[in-house]
Amino acid sequence: MADLNNLFKNESLNMQNNIYEFERISEDVFGNESPESDYFFTGTGMIKDREIIEKLCDDLDYKRFKHTIGVAYTAANLAMYYGENVSKAYVAGLLHDCAKCISHREQIALCEKYNILLDEQEIRNPHLIHAKLGAFYASEKYNVNDEEIAEAIRKHTTGSVNMTRLEMIIFLADYIEPGRKFIDNLDEIRKQAYNSLEYAVRDTLLNTIDYLKLRNMEIHKNTLNAYEYYKSYTDD
Ligand SMILES: [Fe+2]
Ligand SMILES: [Fe+2]
Repeated sequence: MADLNNLFKNESLNMQNNIYEFERISEDVFGNESPESDYFFTGTGMIKDREIIEKLCDDLDYKRFKHTIGVAYTAANLAMYYGENVSKAYVAGLLHDCAKCISHREQIALCEKYNILLDEQEIRNPHLIHAKLGAFYASEKYNVNDEEIAEAIRKHTTGSVNMTRLEMIIFLADYIEPGRKFIDNLDEIRKQAYNSLEYAVRDTLLNTIDYLKLRNMEIHKNTLNAYEYYKSYTDD
């Protein structure tokens, strides 16, 4: 396992080096006259994505890092399509799983330490906790102080009723990013995401509920409530 972890780490570093190489070539060709172009303006803050990506390389394994890049670009693309804030979607996508590679035991301990309230279902199903902890880390560790981004991260695992468009975009990008495979109806949901965010959220929630039921796993109340909400929202 140690070897595998090293491999993941090396692959993450390779990806990081590729980004540096891309930047170096860009600078050679275009010069580096506009360093402000490295920044993304979310509306509530000025964010340098390279700093986020460097930290993510330390905090994530390769598989999660690759998924994260897929989610960030899918979210940015959906935001372009729907006229939402592209920078916010991109940054929220980058950060949505920033706490995912911390052990469940440590995630629970960190939530206690930082007074992040968990419900009983989250404690029984600790794979959900990284959403709340990640929203906290977005500001505390990654210096992204934007409540809309934090809320999109907070809701990305279970979904929620009445989500904002940014929240729906992150919820969907997590499900449809290019690295996702072997999901029923994935092609249809990918198309649906560019037809109606609400319909695609409804179908994603139903897929998730079916997946959990089939495996006798507990379904969080937010997921059930969200499905009822989006099902009735989209009923004719
Ligand atoms: Fe996640
Ligand atoms: Fe994710």
